[in-house]
Amino acid sequence: MPGSANLNVMMKAARKAGRSLAKDFREVENLQVSMKGAGDFVSRADINAEQIIKSELMNARPTYGWLAEEGGEEEGKDPTRRWIVDPLDGTTNFLHGLPHWAVSIALEHKGQIVAGVVYDAPKDELFWAEKGEGAWMNETRLRVSGRHKMIESIFATGVPFGGRSDLPKTLQDLARLMPACAGVRRWGSAALDLAYVAAGRYDGFWERRLKPWDIAAGMVIAREAGAFVEPMDAGAELLESGSIICANNAIFEKFAQVIRN
Ligand code: IPD
Ligand code: CA
Ligand code: CA
Ligand code: CA
Repeated sequence: MPGSANLNVMMKAARKAGRSLAKDFREVENLQVSMKGAGDFVSRADINAEQIIKSELMNARPTYGWLAEEGGEEEGKDPTRRWIVDPLDGTTNFLHGLPHWAVSIALEHKGQIVAGVVYDAPKDELFWAEKGEGAWMNETRLRVSGRHKMIESIFATGVPFGGRSDLPKTLQDLARLMPACAGVRRWGSAALDLAYVAAGRYDGFWERRLKPWDIAAGMVIAREAGAFVEPMDAGAELLESGSIICANNAIFEKFAQVIRN
């Protein structure tokens, strides 16, 4: 199994944050919860997990830059490397007692994501990948599914919340896609959606207007497992646009045709 020093730092931080989140998850009714916008929750658990990850990563690599959901952006002395962190992906699930959420940590080098870790603490599933080295879940090598028929495939998405203006587009996607495939799932963690494509559990995933911290780690894990990952609008910069299509290589073209229609 590969695994660089950076990857070990990322895994250690993800597991430590995962333990803090798991503890908060057992006492979720005692957390201070606030709303950043309609349907967009943040709690003490998100903030604590982010602080844990930041101190682990910045102690180990003090020169790297930083971009995280709750704490914003900091330029590092080394302008070529940056951590991209979502301390808790799936906050809405977490706060409703649904055990489907994860920690997401990615490393960017010269504008490319070179390593990613997505840690599902409730299930103790650590998804990880490094560019050129393959993708793994704990100690098992990951490979996308081989399904190539739309009617046998299942796809995941996220539906925009809180009255976001891109909701009608997603509803139109669903109207086209649902009759053509075996099912659509909406589980509420984009990082895990991408990791599940890598694991062959979903055949594909699409979502609009995600943030860099939602997709950076999952993207490299999915790609290293053999998935195609592209921006929804050909030519757009994926982390900037946040609108993503990902699928196993056999179904990608057919799936993308339905979504980009
Ligand atoms: C959310 C999750 C969800 C997606 C939302 C994201 P958060 O992240 O990834 O699946 O549909 O758009 O904001 O807020 O739980 O970190
Ligand atoms: Ca959030
Ligand atoms: Ca997120
Ligand atoms: Ca989050």
